[in-house]
Amino acid sequence: MAWKNLGQFLGALEEKGDLLRVRSRVSPRLEMTELSLRALRSDGPALLFENVEGSSTPVALNLLASQRRIASALGATTIDEPAERIRKLLRFRPPGGLGAILSDPAGTLEQLGQLRALAPKRVGKGACQEEETDRPDLSTLPILTCWPKDGGPTITFPLVVTRNPETGDQAVGIYRLQKYSSTTLGAHWQTHRAGAENYRRYQRRGKDGERMPVAVVLGADPTTVFAGLAPVPEGISRFAFSGFLRGESLPLVPCRTIPLEVPAEAEIVLEGYADPKETRVEGPFGDHTGYYSLPEEFPVIHVTHITHRSRPVYLSTVSGKPPTEDAVLGQAVSRLFLPVIQAVLPEVVDLDLPQEGIFINVAIVAIRKSYPQHPRKVMHALWGLGQMMFTRYILVVDHDVDPHDHAEVLYRVGLQADPGEDFEHVHGPVDQLSISNRVENQGGKVGIDATKKWRSEGYPRPWPEEAVMDPQVVARVDELVRGDGALTRFSRTRPARPGS
Ligand SMILES: Cc1cc2nc3c(=O)[nH]c(=O)nc-3n(C[C@H](O)[C@H](O)[C@H](O)COP(=O)(O)O)c2cc1C
Repeated sequence: MAWKNLGQFLGALEEKGDLLRVRSRVSPRLEMTELSLRALRSDGPALLFENVEGSSTPVALNLLASQRRIASALGATTIDEPAERIRKLLRFRPPGGLGAILSDPAGTLEQLGQLRALAPKRVGKGACQEEETDRPDLSTLPILTCWPKDGGPTITFPLVVTRNPETGDQAVGIYRLQKYSSTTLGAHWQTHRAGAENYRRYQRRGKDGERMPVAVVLGADPTTVFAGLAPVPEGISRFAFSGFLRGESLPLVPCRTIPLEVPAEAEIVLEGYADPKETRVEGPFGDHTGYYSLPEEFPVIHVTHITHRSRPVYLSTVSGKPPTEDAVLGQAVSRLFLPVIQAVLPEVVDLDLPQEGIFINVAIVAIRKSYPQHPRKVMHALWGLGQMMFTRYILVVDHDVDPHDHAEVLYRVGLQADPGEDFEHVHGPVDQLSISNRVENQGGKVGIDATKKWRSEGYPRPWPEEAVMDPQVVARVDELVRGDGALTRFSRTRPARPGS
């Protein structure tokens, strides 16, 4: 079943005991950050702040800050279920192949149904337009100031909708927006993002007086919020991807004053425009690196109209050093998109993006190596794949190494990668938030081949054999510890990681 809207999802979480209503008065200035991070770090529930200092609108935080809530947001019990649907979709051959229909008619119909759900459906009326005003005042919204030295209160979890002026295609992405005044916001779409590309298109047109329409959706059904950050291949609409995940088309309504469409069931929609000639300093902002991003020029969004439900909830999130909600989301994204990577690189057995690597810094990939220098082919292919281009360190291990077991991976890197031979240094685009590169948006990256080396790869010595116990002895000792009470604590387990 697809979640109709945010309210319905919050209700379901509450029924499961996975939502806490915070009735004490809490300030959106810093206090909500501190409380939500404490809740997240104790694997706590989502939070609904009902008594918000300075605003009558309740605030939802930590909505997708656990794998169980993300799975539930995608209508599943684990992320592997939607990942499997993506895998099946990628394998699907269109019905032109009669053989496919004949061999699996039910499967074919199911796939066709899923494809039909991709297209959003236009509806005439939406709850997001129950009320509206053309005298917008952003100061009535409970916009969080997350960290003490932030440049200002910042909308952190918006779906920002823009349009390619040439094709008319809409793009949707989550980009934070710093509040400058009661009607203006700074649009922090980083240079590689679709929003930034659309803005550059308007700049290139250079038409006198032409303004770029922008809609900002604050709070939508949880699947659509998730789709807003998912690294979908370029050209695929995130509203369509939401439809696929929901198994049901996403209803969209036209905005009241600008030519853009937004989810009909959203909570609040800001309508406005960006002037292709106008920028202003945005930041600093306590970012998901755990550092303040430096103040920088970004476009300004003028909010000219607001529509909303009659009793909206304001959805927000808090960035910072991991673990944070976006780090949790990053891990879910890597599970969900593994089938997409495997469709291009079938040798990839598994992939881990450790939270500590903030998605962009570290990827660990286990591959079935089948020819000399195979790991380097995988590194370059990953650097060429959408947002994987930002990955600063790619660690490649053999297929029998669990990439999620970081102790094992460090063991393999330290032992099996020769720093003089097995590092692949490259230079290229890096994420705008990366800090150690000398020039913004570009810098070094390294791939580390921690697989076992072969003679054909130029390794001249025999690769030593790993010392592993004789399986018969293992079985005998298993039997022994099962039968001897004093020894049962020595039954086989994986070595515990300190702090895990
Ligand atoms: C909570 C959160 C906040 C984000 N904030 C920003 C941001 O301020 N600027 C930005 O460019 N990307 C931000 N992102 C990342 C983008 O939303 C994400 O990379 C998305 O896939 C970009 O899509 P695009 O390349 O189609 O524009 C954020 C992601 C999350 C989860």
